[in-house]
Amino acid sequence: MNIDILLGLQWGDEGKGKIVDALSPVYDVVARFQGGPNAGHSLEFNNVKHVLHLIPSGIFHPEKLNIIGNGVVIDPAVFKKEIEELGPPLNELKKRLIISNKANLILPSHRILDAAYESSKGNSKIGSTLKGIGPAYTDKTSRNGLRVGDVLKEDFRQKYNDHLNSHLNILRSYDFKFDLKEYEKGWFEGINLLKQFPIGNTEYLVNELVQEGKKILAEGAQGTMLDVDFGSYPFVTSSNTISAGACTGLGISPKKIGDIFGIFKAYCTRVGCGPFPTELYDAVGANLRNLGHEFGSTTGRPRRCGWLDLPAMKYSIMINGITKLIMTKADVMSGFKTIKICTAYRINGEICNELPFYNDSIVEPVYTELEGWKEDITGYREFSELPSALKNFIEFIEKETSVPITMVSVGPDRKETIFRN
Ligand code: GDP
Ligand code: IMO
Ligand code: MG
Repeated sequence: MNIDILLGLQWGDEGKGKIVDALSPVYDVVARFQGGPNAGHSLEFNNVKHVLHLIPSGIFHPEKLNIIGNGVVIDPAVFKKEIEELGPPLNELKKRLIISNKANLILPSHRILDAAYESSKGNSKIGSTLKGIGPAYTDKTSRNGLRVGDVLKEDFRQKYNDHLNSHLNILRSYDFKFDLKEYEKGWFEGINLLKQFPIGNTEYLVNELVQEGKKILAEGAQGTMLDVDFGSYPFVTSSNTISAGACTGLGISPKKIGDIFGIFKAYCTRVGCGPFPTELYDAVGANLRNLGHEFGSTTGRPRRCGWLDLPAMKYSIMINGITKLIMTKADVMSGFKTIKICTAYRINGEICNELPFYNDSIVEPVYTELEGWKEDITGYREFSELPSALKNFIEFIEKETSVPITMVSVGPDRKETIFRN
């Protein structure tokens, strides 16, 4: 079992980037399997914060290989910007990163389509990051996509023009103004950079590496509640963010999967539209946002904040087959007198443990209130040092979910991590 998966159990932004970076030393390879530049994965070391969108979060470890798998959608313009801002020299990065020839490309016109669709939705907007994710995955499944492998072919420009024309035809029926040239320049520069990186059948590579006994960490993007099948549809992203997505997004058998790490914040956040049963509209919500710096890593939008939602988390644990839990950001709640955890929903007066099908259901959270802790925990490195009220909080979650919490993150830096034995 040489492939472990790490993925978000909530609505994204659980701290995946930080934890993947902190776990990288025990893996040989870090691989992204879905999503694209809608993701914003932050990690910190040496007092510098980095935000990654397309590049796997193992990239800062010189001896590790990073793979962008076939399930990812790539915007070459974003890729170029990210590579340039990363820090390590290009020659070095070319040795650390390999890209699947089967990953689909996000075209400039996909971004425009994304914006046109959203603006036509009026009050029922998804709250998309507008990175072109939906239209790119739509073209992939309708078998109209352009893939990374296509950029190496002589007829690439012709193919690009054909795709562009079909998108322009669609755009004609929308009353939407756009400037294609603005996107195209950076996009073609990005294509030139992309071509300089190793591009190949990464599914062979991944399976060979497993055969050789190398350890791979598959890094999820978004979160389970944003999964296209199991999230709060239609307020979701366009890929399978769940553990099964790692198999289709990298070309690996479920038989090869070892641990499936489920990462969650000690409270909940959501950016974009859609149901959020434990959302707080009061001063507590504002406190979580301010103390936790809850503003989108990709769009800068303020994140909606609320208490931990166990029915949603248990659902995510079930769908993914989570073997170990990782908790982040409990440090944000230091000083809270009491902390609430939603243990069930009340819908039409009935207690309910399942997530409702309809987004318009009036879901009232049923809370258990636990004592808070006063201590600043960011300096702690041992589980035994944690305040007893926080240990109670952890124990409560473990009892409810029947899954052990094996890591506790106490700050954004890679060092601010407690590995529990
Ligand atoms: P991701 O998308 O799951 O990688 O998460 P983001 O990077 O979008 O958002 C998580 C935010 O919380 C980032 O700003 C991280 O630097 C920060 N962060 C991660 N873990 C912790 C933690 O344990 N405590 C605190 N205070 N911040 C954290
Ligand atoms: P990471 O990997 C949080 C949300 C958007 C929107 C919905 C659809 O950083 O956790 P899309 O751009 O995919 O069409 O947006 O999904 N969303 C995220 N929210 N974290 C993310 O990624 C997200 N990626 C997409 O806000 O509600
Ligand atoms: Mg994020």
